[in-house]
Amino acid sequence: MGKKVTVVGAGFYGSTTAQRLAEYDIFDTVVLTDIVEGKPEGIALDLNQSRPIEDFETKVVGVTTGPNGEGYEAIGGSDIVIITAGLPRKPGMSRMDLLEVNAKIVRGVSENVAKYAPNAVVIVVANPLDEMTMLTQIATGFPRNRVMGQAGMLDTARFTHFVAEALAVPIGSVRTLTLGSHGDTMVPVPSKCTVNGKPLTELLPADKIEELVGRTRNGGAEVVALLKTGSAYYAPSAAAARMAKAVAEDSGAVMPVCAWVDGEYGISGVYLGVEAEIGATGVKKVVQTGLTDNELADLKVAADAVRAKQQDVCDM
Ligand SMILES: NC(=O)c1ccc[n+]([C@@H]2O[C@H](COP(=O)([O-])OP(=O)(O)OC[C@H]3O[C@@H](n4cnc5c(N)ncnc54)[C@H](O)[C@@H]3O)[C@@H](O)[C@H]2O)c1
Repeated sequence: MGKKVTVVGAGFYGSTTAQRLAEYDIFDTVVLTDIVEGKPEGIALDLNQSRPIEDFETKVVGVTTGPNGEGYEAIGGSDIVIITAGLPRKPGMSRMDLLEVNAKIVRGVSENVAKYAPNAVVIVVANPLDEMTMLTQIATGFPRNRVMGQAGMLDTARFTHFVAEALAVPIGSVRTLTLGSHGDTMVPVPSKCTVNGKPLTELLPADKIEELVGRTRNGGAEVVALLKTGSAYYAPSAAAARMAKAVAEDSGAVMPVCAWVDGEYGISGVYLGVEAEIGATGVKKVVQTGLTDNELADLKVAADAVRAKQQDVCDM
């Protein structure tokens, strides 16, 4: 049997993710859900009509869900569920300002996912990301490896883009890495960044790297400020879709994701941005990389900050 993936939330993030997943043409079915009546059905119809042009067989099914779980039968048998339901930021807001409102949404969605798609790997994208990932694990009761969050791939992609632009080199020649939280304690890792295999630290002065690091940390807010309504979704959906593809294909690809950390880097008991091997069971293993003393210290600061907030979320 072919694979089935569900995207919960048919807003900007969800609809672009559904499009990317359908165009991969590796799934039997992409289910797209939302609470706004007709929205997921309309987007699904539109996407299905693009099949002859983009040449994919995957069917997109749109379903409106109700406050008491109505419609959730449609996600039954999903191998993967991506949770995009939740409010995005407005200019001037931090991701943390979304905590309470999105916690209610994500808890409700997670309980239905646990009921109707009990074997799925869950990829969380709603913000604040690290806290919503923890909440999803608690509310689903799924093993921790089967719940992960998308943030690091996006933050890393932003960093890579800024470096490629600054040096006017092809994007494919640049490797960067960001770890830590999807927020103020994001940890871009310049010591792991290379251009055509050469250390970034030999190609750009420290103050320029620091500027790019700052822009990366502020990458989401920069887009929000320009859009004035809503937040980024093209790069974010590319990241979530790639994670889902790695799960569907059991590829073992190593990606920066929000994963449960249990002893790696001397850090325990927290969902945090780290590199991990992704496959059919979700996070197969957290992959540790060598960090400078400062980078490791920053990662520990991020872990402490996220751990404190994740504790709050457990009671929401
Ligand atoms: N992790 C990341 O890197 C990252 C990047 C960008 C955006 N985000 C987050 O993703 C979320 C979605 O962003 P967006 O741009 O798509 O917002 P959006 O407002 O365009 O879409 C959100 C959708 O969720 C729906 N929704 C609300 N409650 C629901 C429920 N209970 N069940 C199903 N659907 C529900 C809404 O009706 C809406 O269509 C936000 O929280 C945003 O902050 C995360």
